[in-house]
Amino acid sequence: MRSAVIGAGNIGTLHAHILSECGYLAAVCDIDESKLSPYGGLALYTDYKKLIDEFHPDVVHICTPHYLHAEMTVYALERGVSVLCEKPLCISYEELEAVLDAEKKSAAMLGVCLQNRYNRETVFVKEYLKDRDVISAVGHVAWHRTAEYYASGSWRGRKATEGGGVLINQALHTLDLLQYFAGMPEKITASVSTLTLGDCIEVEDTAAVIGTKGPGITLFATNGQNSDMPVEISIKTDGSFIKIMPGFVMINGEIMDIGKETYRPLGKLCYGSGHGALIADYYEKLQNGQKFAIDGGEGAKSVRLILAAYRSGGAEVDV
Ligand SMILES: NC(=O)c1ccc[n+]([C@@H]2O[C@H](COP(=O)([O-])OP(=O)(O)OC[C@H]3O[C@@H](n4cnc5c(N)ncnc54)[C@H](O)[C@@H]3O)[C@@H](O)[C@H]2O)c1
Repeated sequence: MRSAVIGAGNIGTLHAHILSECGYLAAVCDIDESKLSPYGGLALYTDYKKLIDEFHPDVVHICTPHYLHAEMTVYALERGVSVLCEKPLCISYEELEAVLDAEKKSAAMLGVCLQNRYNRETVFVKEYLKDRDVISAVGHVAWHRTAEYYASGSWRGRKATEGGGVLINQALHTLDLLQYFAGMPEKITASVSTLTLGDCIEVEDTAAVIGTKGPGITLFATNGQNSDMPVEISIKTDGSFIKIMPGFVMINGEIMDIGKETYRPLGKLCYGSGHGALIADYYEKLQNGQKFAIDGGEGAKSVRLILAAYRSGGAEVDV
């Protein structure tokens, strides 16, 4: 495998680290040349099109700002290069259509980095829910993001480049897990507001999303908390009440044995430890010609929920 990371920032560094441990990392691309200096000895590019056309890697890991995901994914898939794209898959309906169309026409494989589906809590609860219907699922994300955080990348906090705020960046994983456990609502209502970071961002820092037709999922999310709190998910089925927090699952008051962490967490605590497991699974499926579960259609689900939330303005809308 000859793999390349495009975008060697916070998360690209983590992808590169995992790939180099597997012996797959062959090339790195970033428009900022200073980000390439740790990768001496590899093929280095500042233009992703050149990387794809000249180097023709087997896989590109797209770890760039949100507004570039669709363009880069389509470019790679059209040239037969497989893609593992960081979340979100894209930031508009037009992009979604283009990406899904490119995936359909390409022999290469698209995967989306929703690594929290690999957390041991998630795996345990998904299995527990196999023969049970979810009545309600509620997620809480209360994190702390500052003016300095938003100043750390010019793409952050801007509608055109981040695509939104807390919903499309920090809370996307939790929204994805809510629909992963409970199913996709047909209709939702949502409100988004900027309560604490209005002097430095033009997108929402706080949001509420409620499924009004179909599965009863609700998300409360803010970047305005005074410190990062653990993400919490509560689920009700007929006969059980489940509480999920990092490293912890409780069912009907009893703490479950969810096994030991098999992948060590890398990078920031809030990334979780799922990247290693997801990347290993992606490559196993690619090398064996099998389907990777989190394909374009799966990556599209959270994007559709979020785009509906942005359209809602407090009214019920189709997802
Ligand atoms: N899965 C997760 O838990 C998780 C965690 C953090 C970030 N992310 C996602 O990863 C992506 C990047 O986030 P980040 O925090 O690493 O951002 P970042 O700003 O630290 O890194 C982005 C990098 O992309 C580079 N870049 C910008 N335009 C480029 C171009 N045209 N070609 C090549 N490189 C280009 C920048 O120079 C920068 O080094 C985002 O989609 C973010 O949502 C996911």
